[in-house]
Amino acid sequence: MSSETTVPFYSWARAARRDWPRLEKRLESVLHRGEFTAGQAVAELEEGIARYTGAGFAVGCNNGSDALAIMLRAAGIGPGDEVIVPAYTFFSSASSVIHVGAEPVLVDIQPGSYALDPEAVERAITSRTRAIMPVHLFSQMADMVALTKVAADHGLTVLEDSAEAIGMRVQGRHAGLWGRAGVLSFFPTKTLGALGDAGMLLTDDEELARSARMLTVHGRSPDGTRAHELIGWNSRLDEIQACVLLTRLERLEEEIERRAVLAARYTEGLSGIDEVQVPWLRPTVQPGNQVWYVYLAECQRRDELVEFLETRGVGTEVYYPRPLTQQPVLAGRPGVRHPVPVAEASARRAVGLPMYPDLTEAQVDHVVDAVRAFYRGASS
Ligand SMILES: Cc1ncc(COP(=O)(O)O)c(C=O)c1O
Repeated sequence: MSSETTVPFYSWARAARRDWPRLEKRLESVLHRGEFTAGQAVAELEEGIARYTGAGFAVGCNNGSDALAIMLRAAGIGPGDEVIVPAYTFFSSASSVIHVGAEPVLVDIQPGSYALDPEAVERAITSRTRAIMPVHLFSQMADMVALTKVAADHGLTVLEDSAEAIGMRVQGRHAGLWGRAGVLSFFPTKTLGALGDAGMLLTDDEELARSARMLTVHGRSPDGTRAHELIGWNSRLDEIQACVLLTRLERLEEEIERRAVLAARYTEGLSGIDEVQVPWLRPTVQPGNQVWYVYLAECQRRDELVEFLETRGVGTEVYYPRPLTQQPVLAGRPGVRHPVPVAEASARRAVGLPMYPDLTEAQVDHVVDAVRAFYRGASS
């Protein structure tokens, strides 16, 4: 099989070669400075991300999951509090709530956006509810107009898991900045990916940003006194990862545009297959505000399709194989008490197809041909 017809789920190999000369220069200066965590490159990245997103403050963290727990703690969420979280999301949207001693209450999502259903949120509010955590998944944001209204009506804080959502906006406002704070993950496969773990917290709230920054370094005050004011974590962002991210940030918009071209090609190629539902945009998000982090299709006989695609050299990723309500460590918790039929159906049918700027048109066509062959009944 030629490399044109092998389609890994993710690859940055071609772009890395192109970016290497610029990255090498940055890495050299890190080696000269001899400062490897939360130094000059991280500060530059924080500035760059704040500028790109419009955030008042950006705080580098070691990964997106830490950023979630830091955001919750900095917002004062703790024991006795409930946080409403979608049942269909990455595990740490919920585990971060448990890490700060609060309870994630899992509710259903909306078809299409795979994000919190505002009506389900409204039904789940109790006297213990303190916050709502919308999660923006795959290619579009949650219905933030409706969700921020529900929160305002009930006096709740909105804290966004915008880990996947760099570049996504609604009404011009970037993900993570609709509520009191949000996070970004720079996990390698993300739209802006590092070569390892990295994350960031976004907020316009100066006090929250100050607490968050302290929480990334064991709760130590930034005033030079070395006084510990909070019980924090070690969650600094590495200088080397910051160099990778600064280098890639320069091409982020270009790469987002490339992703849109590839997504349109997938949609054109896969439309008209009865067993496949291509991604669709909910009316709460304007078309220009989508970012194709993941191209997620809903497919009948999904697991068989995944196996078949593997025989055709196509990598896939199942997002998410089960709703959080069915994760063994969460089942039986007090927050697992609401029906989540849309989350359950999505977990049975959804699959992410390869999506990254390195992908060629020929590779997309190969994936489309393989999906078509599967539903035509080809054996391998
Ligand atoms: C929705 C969501 N939340 C949280 C995270 C956690 O980010 P990280 O992997 O950087 O810890 C991720 C990414 O993996 C994610 O997709």
